[in-house]
Amino acid sequence: MSFRIQPAPPARLNRCQLFGPGSRPAIFEKMAASEADVINLDLEDSVAPDDKDTARANVIAAIGDIDWGEKTLSVRINGLDTPYWYRDVVEILEQASDRIDQIMIPKVGNGGDLYAVDALVTAVERAKGRKKAIGFEVIIESAAGIAHVEEIAAATPRLQAMSLGAADFAASMGMATTGIGGTQEWYYMHREGQQYWSDPWHWAQAAIVAACRTHGVLPVDGPFGDFSDDEGFRAQARRSATLGMVGKWAIHPKQVALSNEVFTPSEDAVSEAREILTAMEEATKRGEGATVYKGRLVDIASIKQAEVIVRQAEMIGL
Ligand code: COA
Ligand code: MG
Repeated sequence: MSFRIQPAPPARLNRCQLFGPGSRPAIFEKMAASEADVINLDLEDSVAPDDKDTARANVIAAIGDIDWGEKTLSVRINGLDTPYWYRDVVEILEQASDRIDQIMIPKVGNGGDLYAVDALVTAVERAKGRKKAIGFEVIIESAAGIAHVEEIAAATPRLQAMSLGAADFAASMGMATTGIGGTQEWYYMHREGQQYWSDPWHWAQAAIVAACRTHGVLPVDGPFGDFSDDEGFRAQARRSATLGMVGKWAIHPKQVALSNEVFTPSEDAVSEAREILTAMEEATKRGEGATVYKGRLVDIASIKQAEVIVRQAEMIGL
């Protein structure tokens, strides 16, 4: 327990983040027309080294030229272990319109990484007199990132969201897999001739959710590589939602609807949450802290659980 009130995360939708390479401007309009809540224009690993400069220029132009509607607009910069990142930050903040909402910093390893980017961003914002302070989002995708996850979540008030990046994470951890998210063939329990698959991402996700919830940051599940496997995507997304994550990436446009479906509470879930709140209101009037709803216990903690779903429904406009 703590006497501190848990801070609320940013009050905006983040059910799906759609990615597209900055070197492929032909798809930018399609991204803008999608149903994703967040758009991530990528300068990092989907862009080849020779294309870094053109991709950056494409992205800077697109930020101002394309109508991104109500979406949160984010650019994934290159990692701090590359020669590209400082130019990404400086050129974007010197040249892009203030339609950009945030930059995504990949492969963060500790709070100092964010301090460094924050210092550079702050200097350019002041020099250019930019009125809208840019937000940050990060990817936890290394052993160092998960080891320092809470320090990272607390590093800067600019931080809005934190994603798990399964592929780089697996590589950094030395995990024996080449799959990006989802079920892993060799991660199973065995009993009486049967195999039961477990979830190797579970603990990292739970650590990210705890760090995020402690510091008012949105926890997000990253990519699911096999975009021909809708059921695999759904299952992964449902596990993430159950653990407290608010959304998931789409690395192909067909994953947007799947993610929105999972991270939008169903009508049944919303009406049940509202009924629980009503049942508890009536219990409170009777001077009771607990009551029975559909044959099960609901109490003061149930109010908080139900409020999570109702708040989400209100934000979506259900
Ligand atoms: N956003 C919006 N539209 C996209 C898109 C994206 N990320 N990727 C493809 N499309 C469009 C295509 O242009 C095509 O449009 P059309 O029907 O008008 O011709 C349609 O969606 C179907 O595309 P498809 O042929 O199935 O895919 P592709 O071979 O063109 O591209 C990928 C597949 C995976 C290479 C591409 O989706 C991609 O680059 N994804 C993002 C990768 C990324 O950013 N990674 C970094 C984060 S891990
Ligand atoms: Mg990565």
